[in-house]
Amino acid sequence: MEKIRTCLVGAGRAGEVHGDVYNFFIPDSKIVAIFDTDVSKAKNLANKYNIKEKFAFEKFEDALSEVEFDAAVITSPTFTHCIYTEMSARKKIHVFCEKPMAITEEDCNKMTAICREEKVILQIGFMRRFDAGFASAKLIIENGDIGNPLIVKSVGRGPGLPGKWAFDIKNSNGNLAEVNSHDFDAVRWLSESEYKKIYAVAKNSKNPEIGKDYPMFYDNATVSATMENEVFGLIDSVCPCDYGYDARAEVVGSKGVLFIGSLQECTTVTCTRSKGIVTPQTLSWKKRFHDAYIAEDRHFIDCIINGKQPSVTGEDGRKAVAAVIAANESVQKGIPINL
Ligand SMILES: NC(=O)c1ccc[n+]([C@@H]2O[C@H](COP(=O)([O-])OP(=O)(O)OC[C@H]3O[C@@H](n4cnc5c(N)ncnc54)[C@H](O)[C@@H]3O)[C@@H](O)[C@H]2O)c1
Repeated sequence: MEKIRTCLVGAGRAGEVHGDVYNFFIPDSKIVAIFDTDVSKAKNLANKYNIKEKFAFEKFEDALSEVEFDAAVITSPTFTHCIYTEMSARKKIHVFCEKPMAITEEDCNKMTAICREEKVILQIGFMRRFDAGFASAKLIIENGDIGNPLIVKSVGRGPGLPGKWAFDIKNSNGNLAEVNSHDFDAVRWLSESEYKKIYAVAKNSKNPEIGKDYPMFYDNATVSATMENEVFGLIDSVCPCDYGYDARAEVVGSKGVLFIGSLQECTTVTCTRSKGIVTPQTLSWKKRFHDAYIAEDRHFIDCIINGKQPSVTGEDGRKAVAAVIAANESVQKGIPINL
């Protein structure tokens, strides 16, 4: 079978994670073009994937006109997701778009509508749904093993700040979007309900120098949500998180509780008299969710090959964006926001 030809749109942190997966881990796909406004980054990845440098582009228009490909993997800054989705879909190219789907709900709706109109797949990058721990938790909840969910708590503490472009809340919707979109999606997915009311607080505690240029910037926040089915959601956000990468969740049900994820990177434990019990902590989202990225990208390729609809849709992306926007509004106004 012919491989699905993929163009990487954005060759930064997330771009390399997905580029590696599509090029090295999925036999049915290969990277054939790379676009980044910083063309040196596109060229670096082209070399890594053994692609001629002429397939590294500074303009997406050129990639679209000079190379034939079936899929675009959009890993550029969030404020560009809508335009690159539109340009791809209009050329009948399937779209995998990283979270956050876009900056506004209007853009999310536009992306979904265009992809539907052009009959191309649109999958959003909520890789936690493909993580073994999160996926089995979902099955346990569906099976009724812990009874009805009462509280869903999701922790999203990132080891390092996103790129400078994300410091301006207008370009990114802030850390609640960049770091915690996954938590907003997890609460909705695991509670099996939609957001009804959100109250959030946030402050900038660790980065006063960033605050001088970007007064709306915050590096820690908490979110308290009520879902339509009266489940309570709790999200906490810290970024940068000095001790490592911490992405855990807990679901308290009427008959039991379940815990997802761990601070430990692996099960290795060293014990010595001098240092006590030592075990390595998780340091990177790339490593923590390595298998989940592979599984979500495989799902995308499988949907293209077999004409299936992805399990994570534009509507899922939009709901997370709406919740983040409500949380930011709550932070700014100091009141709960009804959705
Ligand atoms: N699912 C996840 O776990 C995950 C992890 C990291 C990032 N992300 C998402 O991926 C996206 C990119 O984040 P990142 O951390 O890789 O950012 P990054 O800053 O590391 O990389 C962004 C890349 O886009 C390029 N770029 C800048 N402006 C551009 C434009 N107008 N058009 C095309 N390319 C442009 C930059 O040169 C850079 O190489 C964000 O939406 C982010 O939220 C998702």
